[in-house]
Amino acid sequence: MDTKTICFLLFSFICLNEARVISISPQPGLLVTQGGEDPDPEVNQKREFVKQMMKDAWDDYVRYAWGENELKPISQTGQDGGIYGDSKIGATIIDSLDTLFIMGFYEEYIKGRNWVAENFDFKTVNTSVSVFETNIRILGGFLTAYALTRDDLYLDQANAVGQLLLPAFDTPSGFPYNRINPATGVGSGSSTSMADLGTLHLEFEYLSEITANPIYVDKVNKIRQNLWDLEKPNGLYPNTVNVQTGRFSDSHVSMGGGADSFYEYLLKSWIQTQDQQARQMYDEAMDAFVANDLVRVSKQSHLLYIGELSGARIDDVGSHLECFAGGMFALGSVTDPKSPADGNRDRDMEIGQNFTNTCHESYIRSDSHIGPEVFRFTDTAEAVAVNDNEKDWAWDAAQSIEKYSKAGPGRGYSGLRNVYSSAPVQDDVQQTFFLAETLKYLYLVFSTDDLIDLDKWVFNTECHPLPVKGKNPMF
Ligand SMILES: *[C@@H]1O[C@H](CO)[C@@H](O)[C@H](O)[C@H]1NC(C)=O
Ligand SMILES: *[C@@H]1O[C@H](CO)[C@@H](O)[C@H](O)[C@H]1NC(C)=O
Repeated sequence: MDTKTICFLLFSFICLNEARVISISPQPGLLVTQGGEDPDPEVNQKREFVKQMMKDAWDDYVRYAWGENELKPISQTGQDGGIYGDSKIGATIIDSLDTLFIMGFYEEYIKGRNWVAENFDFKTVNTSVSVFETNIRILGGFLTAYALTRDDLYLDQANAVGQLLLPAFDTPSGFPYNRINPATGVGSGSSTSMADLGTLHLEFEYLSEITANPIYVDKVNKIRQNLWDLEKPNGLYPNTVNVQTGRFSDSHVSMGGGADSFYEYLLKSWIQTQDQQARQMYDEAMDAFVANDLVRVSKQSHLLYIGELSGARIDDVGSHLECFAGGMFALGSVTDPKSPADGNRDRDMEIGQNFTNTCHESYIRSDSHIGPEVFRFTDTAEAVAVNDNEKDWAWDAAQSIEKYSKAGPGRGYSGLRNVYSSAPVQDDVQQTFFLAETLKYLYLVFSTDDLIDLDKWVFNTECHPLPVKGKNPMF
């Protein structure tokens, strides 16, 4: 079979359009969009349902907010500003490219791809933007689009964005500023968080690989080495760091917002490149959470949660952002290279399972069946035990989102102001991560595991899968 024929069979739409808009060649990495249908027709129906949610979210964005960062689904307008610093950079398009591609929405994917080709120019953004958000959404979006399609457009754009982020590292410590103005190269934000500085590694590592330019990986290796060298109180990483002094600047410790994906990236970085130092730092950090009594069980309902440390006081609070940690502990457990006797395989799987159960409780105890941003453990908290499997949990969440977050039939989706209301008020913003993460993860829950093989791909914290070195032909 010649190239064209294989291409036609696999990706008829893209290849039919090849001459006009896109140069794409069939490679092993591309097979990712094939298959994934569950043999159970009921699961398949749910998969199709999630796919339709994506179509509605995307179409509404195209209709009312094309080229802007986010859709306001109720106002039917676009929204820029916020984390994108008033620049109009089509953030929803870039964050959605891989979801569209993986779900097989080729026509929509190509529309997005062409918008990037014709309009995206990061160096014209003359306003300060978050380095973290730019990295996980924009750079991460381009890197995955490149790994899936091998379209050089994304390689060039990823490299351009990477170059424009580099001045953020011009600090005495080598820890980056958390904001940068791409047009002027001026960084700002001397006080930064562990999440801000510790959630760059996967993207920078892969960017160095595909550009054959070590500058990116050198920058993040320096961050890693700095953190390795720093003295950590009781083995814990406080959440805030000063980029001038290179030291921790508070005593607050958590696994939630401000820290979360730093821990995730230690583990995943080891998965991505087999970097032993990263695995060791991850293992030691998890041991420190346990040793300092931050992995806790609530009095009434016996729900496992991860407390926060403020000075010497432990705060009994959990957050939606922190709920990623259930998956992280499980991933750390199943990949643990140590023997079961030496490592913490069983401990970490139990923490992962029980904490995910806690997060699920936070969903089903709300009137809308959507989890709140923050939940506390007080003496009055009571569990409502249920016994369904995870696919049912995900389906319940998907239906709740459809019921409460949708702006109208066939329309986009909005955030909710109060999930404890049975008639929650919508906040009129369709976040880019709803298309990048929520819908992609839901779709994958209802797809077979070979669709995105976790031996070959590792997800960045915005749900953009990146190739694993030595296991994936794209790394
Ligand atoms: C950025 O904007 C400022 C005004 O806010 C202007 O003085 C400066 O020339 C602009 N720089 C570039 C490179 O566009
Ligand atoms: C995890 O949950 C199981 C089942 O509810 C329970 O038996 C076990 O004690 C819990 N483990 C921890 C560490 O909370």
